[in-house]
Amino acid sequence: MDLIGDYDNMMTLAIAAEEECFLDYLLEEGKWLTEEQLQVLLWEPIFESSDTTFVTTEWAMYEIAKDPIRQEILYKEITKVCGSNTFSEDMLSQIPYLTAIFHETLRKHNPVPVVPPRYVDEDTQLGGYHISAGTEKRVSSQYPTPPVVPGLPVIGNLLQLKEKKPYKTFTKWAEIYGPIYSIKTGANTVVVLNNSQLAKEAMVTKYSSMSSRKLSKALKIISHDKSVVAVSNYDDFHKTVKRFLINGLLGANAQKRLRHIRDTMFENCINHFQAHVKNQPGGLMNFREIFRSQLFGLAMKQAVGRDPEKLNVPELGGILTKEELLEILVLAPMAGLIEVDWRDFFPYLRWIPNQKFEEKINRIAFRRAAVVKALINEHMNHIRLEEEEKCFLDHLLEEGKWLPEEQLQVLLWEPIFESSDTTLVTTEWAMYEIAKDPIRQEILYKEITKVCGSDTISEDMLSQIPYLTAIFHETLRKHNPVPVVPPRYVHEDTQLGGYHISAGTEVAINLYGCNMDKNVWERPEEWLPERFLNEKYDPVDLFKTMAFGGGKRICAGALQAITIACTSIGRFVQEFEWKLEDGDDENVGTLGLSSLKQHPLQVTIKRRK
Ligand code: HEM
Repeated sequence: MDLIGDYDNMMTLAIAAEEECFLDYLLEEGKWLTEEQLQVLLWEPIFESSDTTFVTTEWAMYEIAKDPIRQEILYKEITKVCGSNTFSEDMLSQIPYLTAIFHETLRKHNPVPVVPPRYVDEDTQLGGYHISAGTEKRVSSQYPTPPVVPGLPVIGNLLQLKEKKPYKTFTKWAEIYGPIYSIKTGANTVVVLNNSQLAKEAMVTKYSSMSSRKLSKALKIISHDKSVVAVSNYDDFHKTVKRFLINGLLGANAQKRLRHIRDTMFENCINHFQAHVKNQPGGLMNFREIFRSQLFGLAMKQAVGRDPEKLNVPELGGILTKEELLEILVLAPMAGLIEVDWRDFFPYLRWIPNQKFEEKINRIAFRRAAVVKALINEHMNHIRLEEEEKCFLDHLLEEGKWLPEEQLQVLLWEPIFESSDTTLVTTEWAMYEIAKDPIRQEILYKEITKVCGSDTISEDMLSQIPYLTAIFHETLRKHNPVPVVPPRYVHEDTQLGGYHISAGTEVAINLYGCNMDKNVWERPEEWLPERFLNEKYDPVDLFKTMAFGGGKRICAGALQAITIACTSIGRFVQEFEWKLEDGDDENVGTLGLSSLKQHPLQVTIKRRK
């Protein structure tokens, strides 16, 4: 803006008598303003004076010119007051008809028909209705709003969702209300999407309008207020720490470097299975117990460079066993994340204390932090061997020097937690389906033998065994470990599937519903890996299940999960024959946040060679 530059030059020539303008005032009173702030503050009244006053005056003159009778009344009123003097501002108050014309013009031709939306920054009431923080007062839209699932006053649809398996209820509702509808969880509005086009539109095309997440109280505490990649807002922090995860741990190069850790893990599993066969021939084996402990060991080695059998955690009173570490780092936070604080649904009641809930979640977070701190201290104090490889913690300490201590702790914890859950869920379900289906187990075994001969199956061979990949993706489709993508928060009005979605809404993508859609999948309730081998599918279709999400927030650990799950399944079937415990084929209930099998898989296994 040159106005100010010109003005500066002119100042030297200023005549003492010259009147003060707004700019003089600004320069005097607003010395602390930055140059850009001063510029826009000067520009604002120029802009505002030139628009709305013009609109109103033009409409008033239009109405007057169109209406000779009222024009005459006004003229007579003016003449009565001013006589032969020129009309001036001081006379306004004596000519009420003139003021009436002005206000009637404002009423009929309001220059600002909709007041610019106001952002509600704390819960309030309007007209007897609750208005929650984060809402914007609505701008009218040409698009309809999504169908609403009827619920009860105040609590909305909460009671209908209380069994903690919302994805099944969402899928039932989709049959009645269509693939997109809106529900109320207390004071919150959630739009649920149940088909893949809508899911893709939300995850990819409309991402910029819904890139953040609104967290439950439990998630807020456990994630140290959005400090982990998976629940942080999409901003520079997110991009930076996701890059740490990819470069230091989960990307292709890092995973190549870490291959020996995975190979050891497969070997350990086989040794445990073998020991079971030897010690209890024909006896039932608890698959989960062995596989979970090995996955956790792998997660620890990747994260801190070792898989400690014991750890001294002074804040928790001394030495903890590996089982206790698993409990504190994975199982307790997992259980904590699905804890429901009723205040999440009624944010306007946030001021009411819920001490028991907070104590429980804070305890989980405290114990987790104590263990992570002990792991970091131990790592910093141990004497490094020359040949020692860099672990994720080394990478974080190097690249993330600027991170506050608590953020570094949760960022180190995140992949330990994530590595230990969803991959277990998928592999356990795959082994369940395989153990239940001797015909498909035989097909897989033959495919492996054809490709590997007498060699042990390894990661490089996976691409040559399409039936194995098909088994993995069909398992993800039927037993998706993340059945509902963590809801996205809509921060500006947008459209989805031709419906208006207003800011302040949350959007939940029901992947389970998408993968049970009869219009897309034939006999969706059956486990049929062949569906991914059919000629009409190309390799891209493997990701048709959207199990890893999509767009900018796609799962960072997909490569690791695919490699571990597929190699494990292949290796386990190559070495053993699997048979389900009688009656276990009915045990298909799920637990918790992911769709973990409710009852751990119990199988009998027999060595093949
Ligand atoms: C079968 C296994 C897995 C499945 C099905 C899965 C699925 C998902 C899904 C659905 C999302 C949300 C994507 C979205 O919001 O669009 C996600 C995000 C994420 N996952 Fe996974 N995941 C798996 C394994 C893993 C593993 C092993 C790790 C790490 C060790 C991991 C790390 C992450 C991270 C960091 C994010 C957040 C990405 C972001 O917000 O940018 N996941 N995952």
